[in-house]
Amino acid sequence: MNKEKRTAIIAGNWKMNKTASEAKELIESLIPLVKDAGCTVIIGVPFTDIAVAVDLTKGTNIHVAAQNVHFKDSGAYTGEISPRMLTEAGVEYVIIGHSERRQYFGETDETVNLRARAALAAGLKPIICVGESLEQREAGVTEEFVCRQVVMALLNMTAEDLANVVIAYEPIWAIGTGKTATKEQAEEVCAFIRKVVEENYSKAVADALTIQYGGSMNAGNAADLLSMEDIDGGLIGGASLKPNDFAVIVGAASK
Ligand code: 13P
Repeated sequence: MNKEKRTAIIAGNWKMNKTASEAKELIESLIPLVKDAGCTVIIGVPFTDIAVAVDLTKGTNIHVAAQNVHFKDSGAYTGEISPRMLTEAGVEYVIIGHSERRQYFGETDETVNLRARAALAAGLKPIICVGESLEQREAGVTEEFVCRQVVMALLNMTAEDLANVVIAYEPIWAIGTGKTATKEQAEEVCAFIRKVVEENYSKAVADALTIQYGGSMNAGNAADLLSMEDIDGGLIGGASLKPNDFAVIVGAASK
């Protein structure tokens, strides 16, 4: 983490967990635990929890993210949610292209780019997820694969757009498996992503970009991962559902 150059961001990705009443309970526990955070704190909640999350976090330092967004403004897209629906609901961030969406719901590099650009146009800040599978890592194509994901996700975005973009490096083999990447493995790819952004934009844009690590980050390993120069925060799954654990991670990013 290099706090002189960029903002540290800890974001919870609740995935498909917590009903609205359960969300209320979790958020009420979390608010006092993270109120003195020295980093940006985000909770990425299911659509049905957005209203309660926005309401409860008003006047606190917790920001609300959605977990997906469609790229059209409105129309015959049954089951989808538009960028304006999210902004009007008080959402500030949106997770885009999570590997679970790519794997189970047909998300592609092209739709990730469309969603991220639509989000930006509406004033939302996209948290764009990239990351390789175990097969790709073992085949030695991690950098090639992640490079393509990053370049495709950022296609037709300006340097100004990039100021509102967060990238989350989430190796698929580390998600929900308890098998965290080592801090060296995570740093290597986060630094590589920054290099890709520098080559496509500029050193200034790359230096200012927040790049998170995600994949079994928890209260026990967060400080170690966040000690690395290019790991500017975390996208947290399982541990974000436990207020005390999430608060420890926020604390580690606040130092
Ligand atoms: P876990 O922290 O549960 O491994 O999930 C990571 C993740 O996918 C966050 O988006």
